[in-house]
Parts: sequence; C-alpha cells; structure tokens
Amino acid sequence: MAALPDHEAWRPEAIGGRLVVLRRHRAENLRAFVRWYSDPEVAHLTRYHQAPLSNDEVQRFFYSRIMGADFLAMAIHLRDTDRLVGTCAFSQLDGDNGSTLYHITIGEPDAWGRGYGTEATDLMLAHAFKKLALHRVGLTVFEFNARAIRAYEKSGFVVEGRAREAVFRNGRFWDEIHMSILLDEWEERQKS
Ligand SMILES: CC(C)(COP(=O)(O)OP(=O)(O)OC[C@H]1O[C@@H](n2cnc3c(N)ncnc32)[C@H](O)[C@@H]1OP(=O)(O)O)[C@@H](O)C(=O)NCCC(=O)NCCS
Repeated sequence: MAALPDHEAWRPEAIGGRLVVLRRHRAENLRAFVRWYSDPEVAHLTRYHQAPLSNDEVQRFFYSRIMGADFLAMAIHLRDTDRLVGTCAFSQLDGDNGSTLYHITIGEPDAWGRGYGTEATDLMLAHAFKKLALHRVGLTVFEFNARAIRAYEKSGFVVEGRAREAVFRNGRFWDEIHMSILLDEWEERQKS
C-alpha cells in the first residue's frame, strides 16, 4: 500500500457536487459547531455521552481535530446558497493498510432528509478511493439512527458487524453498528 499523497491533494480547497459543495473548514465555522453540538438531538445521534458538548469541549474538538493535521475534515455547504450546514471527515487515515474511518454531522436539523448527507458521503468516498487511493472506508453508527444507516446504505456501505449493546439510551441498550465499503465495491457501483 502506497503512502498517502501530499497534503494539498489530501485536503482539497473544495469538492463540488450537485446539491452540496465540500469546502475546507475556516476558523469562523467554530460558531456553527458550538451551536450544532449544543443541540441535544445531535448529541443523542452522535455521542456516547448523551450530554451535549460544552463550549470549551467544542472549541478543543474544533481546533485539535477539525482543523488539525491528522483529520481530513470538510465543511458541507449547500450549493445554491453556500449556507454551511454540516461537517464530514476521515479520521485514522492509515496509508499502510489503506483504510480510514468516516464521520458526518449535518448540524442544521432543517437540512436533514434532503439528500445532502448522501451526496456529501458520495463525494468523500470518491475522494478516498480515487485521490487518496484507499482500500477501505469504515464507520460506526448507533442502531437507533435509522436515517443515518439508510443514508450510508445509499452510498454503498454494508453492515459488517455490531458491538452488541454498546450504548445506553432512552432506558435501554442499543448496538453500535459497524459498516464499511471496499474499493472494489465502490468501483462496481460506479459502473451502474
Ligand atoms: C445522518 C445524516 C448525515 C444523513 O444525511 P441526510 O442528508 O439527512 O440523509 P439523506 O436525505 O441523504 O438520506 C436519508 C435517507 O434516510 C431515510 N430516512 C429518513 N428518516 C428515516 C427514518 N426515521 N427511518 C428510516 N429511514 C429514514 C430518508 O427517506 C432517506 O432515504 P431515501 O432517499 O431512500 O428516501 C444527517 O441526517 C445527520 O447528520 N444527522 C444528524 C447527525 C447524525 O446522525 N450523524 C451520523 C452519526 S453516525
């Protein structure tokens, strides 16, 4: 497996789609992160701990991960208006094994269910497999997050396992589902 390409190819200025444009994050996006991650519903869907992140925690997360060198994070903007609605990212980029972990949060609830998440994911997968020459993209999602699971399936992710009863929410335990897509599966989908 070749090493990952240089930083410019790694983290492009923008990746354009039909509905959304992925752009590099800018420092002023922190304000939106603080708002998104203080929403209890976003915390419910994305965090092991149900409490929303404090402003300090969001700030640390934003500067160390989102703007950090080891995390390939892109802002999700609507193509028509350029409105910032969310963020998506690869973490644990592993050039030796050709793998990474994918994350996405559309932080504006009125932007859920409009196809933006699926397209952002499709754009990130094309970047992973074509530009970064990766072999595998994995993710984890809580069992109760049906919209996210459906969006991931639409982009070609398949369930490969589950951490049983790994999260306690609303009075019961739920599985954490592990999904992934491999290069040959992604290439096959590009033909149809
Ligand atoms: C998960 C997320 C990225 C998906 O993006 P999105 O733009 O909302 O999703 P899309 O509109 O592209 O696709 C959603 C699909 O789920 C379906 N869906 C919506 N609600 C659903 C539900 N309750 N049960 C089953 N399917 C559902 C939609 O109908 C659509 O499928 P379809 O096109 O076949 O009709 C976005 O909703 C989000 O960020 N949510 C909050 C944070 C989060 O959950 N992040 C993921 C953590 S793993």
